[in-house]
Amino acid sequence: MKITKQFIDKYNQAGPRYTSYPPATFFTEEFNTNTFQQSIIQSNSQQPENISIYIHIPFCPHQCSFCGCNTIIGKGKTFISKYIEALSKEINNVAKLIDNKRLVSQIHWGGGTPNSIPYEHIETIMNVLKTNFSFTDNPEIAIECSPAYLNFSDIDKLAGYGFNRMSLGVQDFNEDVLSFVNRKPPKYPIDEIVKKLHKTGFTGVNIDLIYGLPKQTVESFIETTKKAIAINPDRIVTFSYAHVPWVKEYQKALEKEGLPKPEEKMEMFITSLEKITSNGYVAIGMDHFAKPDDELSIALDNKKLHRNFQGYCTRETTGQVYGFGASAISQFYGAYAQNEKNPEAYIKMIDNKGFATIRGYSTNSEEQIIHTVINEIMCNNYLNFEQTAKEFNLSAEQLKNIVGFDKNKFEEFVKDDVIQLSENEIVVKEKGRLIVRNIAMKLDPALKTGKQLYSKTV
Ligand SMILES: C[S@@+](CC[C@H](N)C(=O)[O-])C[C@H]1O[C@@H](n2cnc3c(N)ncnc32)[C@H](O)[C@@H]1O
Ligand code: SF4
Repeated sequence: MKITKQFIDKYNQAGPRYTSYPPATFFTEEFNTNTFQQSIIQSNSQQPENISIYIHIPFCPHQCSFCGCNTIIGKGKTFISKYIEALSKEINNVAKLIDNKRLVSQIHWGGGTPNSIPYEHIETIMNVLKTNFSFTDNPEIAIECSPAYLNFSDIDKLAGYGFNRMSLGVQDFNEDVLSFVNRKPPKYPIDEIVKKLHKTGFTGVNIDLIYGLPKQTVESFIETTKKAIAINPDRIVTFSYAHVPWVKEYQKALEKEGLPKPEEKMEMFITSLEKITSNGYVAIGMDHFAKPDDELSIALDNKKLHRNFQGYCTRETTGQVYGFGASAISQFYGAYAQNEKNPEAYIKMIDNKGFATIRGYSTNSEEQIIHTVINEIMCNNYLNFEQTAKEFNLSAEQLKNIVGFDKNKFEEFVKDDVIQLSENEIVVKEKGRLIVRNIAMKLDPALKTGKQLYSKTV
């Protein structure tokens, strides 16, 4: 794939990631703990029927200077215990409002670093979930782990609590890069950890990499990519480094060395994409790769790939998402609700009110339709106006009006050979996947623009 600097300059603009629609910049404080409780009750009659659960652990022992996650450093055992108590209370309170016939098909633990807290807390929370909910036959239970704090015996413990998926934050195999970004190296070799995970029965084992960090070069990142492939994980993610120093001030430290230029970053992405896909992985969405027999690849084939705040998923397993813990976002068919981000304030809110929502958004029916359209483009690289319109009992013309479709807005994309456009379809071509956010932006009638609102699309 040949990408010119001109192409990158043309499309490298700030834009939403569309993890939600409308994007989180629309959430307001009018949406409070009362609205949240009403939304939970409404979610009981919304599709999909399953329950997805997100547990946020906002603790890390050490600050990586590239980090864009919601986490705090250096909290002691007493504070973490109080947090776990609050988390248990929150789960109990929310569960009371959920229809008990609905089944949990998915649990995702993220952070921060969930594997850096004492493991008895992980067991406690899993038991609280098992007491409050019934599960499908084979739920996906995933945890994000930093290999700096992972022992082999931890993997057995996690399997014992029911975990069957793991995402390992590797970021880069190059020690110079890791050391410059203040990242603790893995405690044990990643290939041995992945072997142990597979032996213990984990599936969907994932390796996270980041490109666009200081000290990385196109050559060094391709070496990292090759090492990741040789380890043979089920999935690989190549995140584009999001530099947002106006939100995360410590990221400024990385500017001293200088970040790779956008064209170098694009080269890193393309060469790694080519390497990963030529080694038998299927490209999922913008930056995820999975083995052909992985359920994500099968869902993409069937145009049933889906996405929520936890990443790509299949329409079959994804349910209404109930998020627990500081900063966690619940994602229902008709609403988004975000918890207080500061863990101390979160504990106080749970103690005082039983819930910790501080902002959110109730979506109207048009926004739900636009969400589906944008999801089709972002996940399945394909939009069929007639088919999607049918899901909402609309005509293709009505659907086009709702998303403000105008053929002229897509002409440049056709000229640049990133999409194939016909009366009824938009097909995103291989090159178009690199700028899929730009394409989605043309189907977003409420697009907000402005400085420092979003990260760059490339
Ligand atoms: C919560 S962390 C994963 C667990 C653990 N804390 C770790 O770092 O290994 C989730 C992932 O987000 C990605 N990430 C963090 N900061 C990022 C940033 N500024 N831009 C892009 N990706 C980022 C990293 O690849 C990381 O593995
Ligand atoms: S370990 Fe993960 S969450 Fe914690 S600071 Fe580093 S990147 Fe961020």
